[in-house]
Amino acid sequence: MSSDLAPPSTTSATTERLLVRQSRWIAHDVLELRLTRSTGAALPTWEPGAHVELTLPSGRRRAYSLCGDVTDTETWTIAVHRVHEGRGGSREIHETALVGRQLEIHGPVNRFPLVPAPGYLLLAGGIGVTPLLPMARELTARSLPWRLVLGARDRSRLVYAEELVALGGHRVLLLPQDEAGLPDLAAELAATPPTHAVYACGPQPMLDAVSALCRSADPARSLHLERFTATAATDGILDQLAATSGEFEVVLSRSGLRLTVPADRSVLDVVREKLPDVPFSCEEGYCGTCETRVTAGVPDHRDTVIEPSERPTATTMMICVSRCDSPVLELDL
Ligand code: FES
Repeated sequence: MSSDLAPPSTTSATTERLLVRQSRWIAHDVLELRLTRSTGAALPTWEPGAHVELTLPSGRRRAYSLCGDVTDTETWTIAVHRVHEGRGGSREIHETALVGRQLEIHGPVNRFPLVPAPGYLLLAGGIGVTPLLPMARELTARSLPWRLVLGARDRSRLVYAEELVALGGHRVLLLPQDEAGLPDLAAELAATPPTHAVYACGPQPMLDAVSALCRSADPARSLHLERFTATAATDGILDQLAATSGEFEVVLSRSGLRLTVPADRSVLDVVREKLPDVPFSCEEGYCGTCETRVTAGVPDHRDTVIEPSERPTATTMMICVSRCDSPVLELDL
């Protein structure tokens, strides 16, 4: 999620039923939803980078970045990209008449906060612009220098393009891939002062490229990545789980419960039988919702939240996909 993992800010996180007051198409395959309290009362405040988790009528849980205006205290806005080959959450949102319904919403939680810097480069791929748009608004309000590059397959998929241009003018570069090709990430980074922070959200190959370029050119750069989309790195996770040989034990340190995790099931699955309220969302190792503190044992990290370089010293794990390299794993649950 980030090269220097920020602890999630959950100070104002709540779980409550909110009304889907409005929806509108804002780009090809992208639906914007506006959520309010049914009374119209003010919602908890949030900061750019925050996300909320929706429990859909089917029971699926999905996390989406808040992309509206932080000064709008009555409305939370999210944008949902329909993933045709996904696991059904975005399809359910796109195909169900949700307007007028109440959904259980948990949040806001911020694992992608703006850190202090003299300037910012914001790199977005497709729907990855959603956490970056409120950042651009905030930086404009604070009169801080920023530049945003948004790439997408074609013009119809440039999410919030008009809002961005109205906000940033020449500071915004829109790159429809079929007309302009892929963003020149190396050039963007080279043109950005080394003291400026870089925030990137988009498809895995783009994040990998940004990460590799920063590592080789300027390892000290303040770099922050967020993944909200299932990626090549998480494809086949279930196959991996099925192929895992051997089972292991999990001890839940708060209750002392000892559970067996078979080779074909996840730690999350097994833990939920005893603790049904344990938080989770993507179940594919990319959202960070199920992050759990490890108190003993050696985790086998298989998520895309914790960077490979952080794994040897990580004290937490994503229990939806990660497993265990020792016979027993003890979790702070
Ligand atoms: S539920 Fe998303 S990382 Fe585990």
